[in-house]
Amino acid sequence: MSGAKPGADAPTRPAPMERGGFYNERSRLQAGGGAHGLPAIARAFERMPLGDGPVTIADYGSAQGRNSLVPIGAAIAETRARLGASSPVSVVHTDQPDNDFSTLFCLLRDSEDSYLGAQNIFTSAVGRSFYEQVLPAGSVTFGWCSYAIHWLSAAPIAGAGHIWCRLTTGDTRRAFERRSADDWLIFLTHRAAELRPGGCLVVVQPSMPDDEPSTFPVLMGWAQAELDAMAADGTLREAEAARMTVLCYERYPADVRAPFANGDFCGLVLAEDFLNDLPDPFWGPYQATGDAKTLADQYVGFFQAPFRPSLLAALDPDRDTSFRKAFADRLESGLHRRVIAEPQPLMTPLAVHVSLIQKR
Ligand SMILES: C[S@@+](CC[C@H](N)C(=O)[O-])C[C@H]1O[C@@H](n2cnc3c(N)ncnc32)[C@H](O)[C@@H]1O
Repeated sequence: MSGAKPGADAPTRPAPMERGGFYNERSRLQAGGGAHGLPAIARAFERMPLGDGPVTIADYGSAQGRNSLVPIGAAIAETRARLGASSPVSVVHTDQPDNDFSTLFCLLRDSEDSYLGAQNIFTSAVGRSFYEQVLPAGSVTFGWCSYAIHWLSAAPIAGAGHIWCRLTTGDTRRAFERRSADDWLIFLTHRAAELRPGGCLVVVQPSMPDDEPSTFPVLMGWAQAELDAMAADGTLREAEAARMTVLCYERYPADVRAPFANGDFCGLVLAEDFLNDLPDPFWGPYQATGDAKTLADQYVGFFQAPFRPSLLAALDPDRDTSFRKAFADRLESGLHRRVIAEPQPLMTPLAVHVSLIQKR
C-alpha cells in the first residue's frame, strides 16, 4: 500500500493522493463534479484576448491527471479554434512536490484520451504548493483548478480530534474557517500574479447549500466512530488519533465570493459563479439493483483514494508497513460493514461551485 511519507510534520499539511494511479481509478465523483466547470471554459475563452499566442494553460492540483484530460483538452480545442490547428500550447500541471507526476506523464503518453495526440502541445509539471507563486508573473493565459482548493494549506491547530474539519466545533471549527478564508485569498493573490492581463481562471470546488453544516456527515461520523474504537482498544495511540484530520474544508458560495465583495481583488474580477447540486453517483444505481456490496465497495473506494493517505500520514513514524495496512483494512472494513448494515446515500449533501475569474 502506498501512502504519504510518515514523519512528525506530515499531518500538518495535506497528504498527496494515493500513488500508482489509485486516485485516477477512484475519482469518478470528482470527475463528475469537474464536468460542471466545462461550460465555463468556453465562456472564459470568449472573454480572453489571445493575441498571436503562444498560449499557456495551467492545471492547479492535477493529481495523477485523469480528471484533467477533458478540461485541458477543451481549453486546447478553444485555443485551436481561435489561433489555428497547430498553434503551440504549453500545458503545465501543478501539484504538491510529492504528487505522483510519473503516473500523470505515463497517462499522457498512453491514454487514448490524452490531449497529446494533437501536435505542438508541450507538457510540463511543477511540484510546488499553489499557495505560492508557481509560474512566472504574467505568463498564464488560462488556469483550471478542480477539486483541489478545498484542501487547506496546513492544519491551523494541532490535534483537531475529528477526521472531518467541518464536524469539529467551537474554537477548532473557527480556526479551520479562518484558515480556509485566508487560503482562498492567498491562492487568488498568486494566481493574480501569474495570469496575463485578460487571462481567466476557472475554479471548481465541492460546496454545499447554506443551510447544511457539513458534507458527508454520516460517512465521516462512521469513520470517526471506527477511529474512536481503535483509540479505545489501544490500537491507535492517543496522539495519532487526535491528529487524524483530513484537511479539506469546503466553502459556501458566499465564502468564494467574499474577496470580491467590493469589486475586484488584486486585479481579479469574479465574472460569474454558480452552485449546482451534485447527486450521489452511487445511490441511484443501488436503488435499481439493491446490491449493497457494490454500494459499499463504491463508497469505500471514494473514501480511500483522497482521504486514506492523510490518515496514514498521521500515524507515528515507527509504525511499520504491516501495521499501516492492518489499520487501513480495519477502518475500511468497518465502513464497508456499516454501509451493508444501513445502506443510505452517503455522498450527500454535496454541491459543486464553479467560479470564472478574469484578470483585468
Ligand atoms: C482530490 S485531488 C483533485 C485532482 C483533480 N484536479 C481532479 O479534479 O480530480 C486534489 C489534488 O490537489 C492537490 N493539492 C492539495 N493541496 C495542494 C497545494 N497546496 N498545492 C498544490 N496541489 C495541492 C492534491 O495533492 C491532490 O492531487
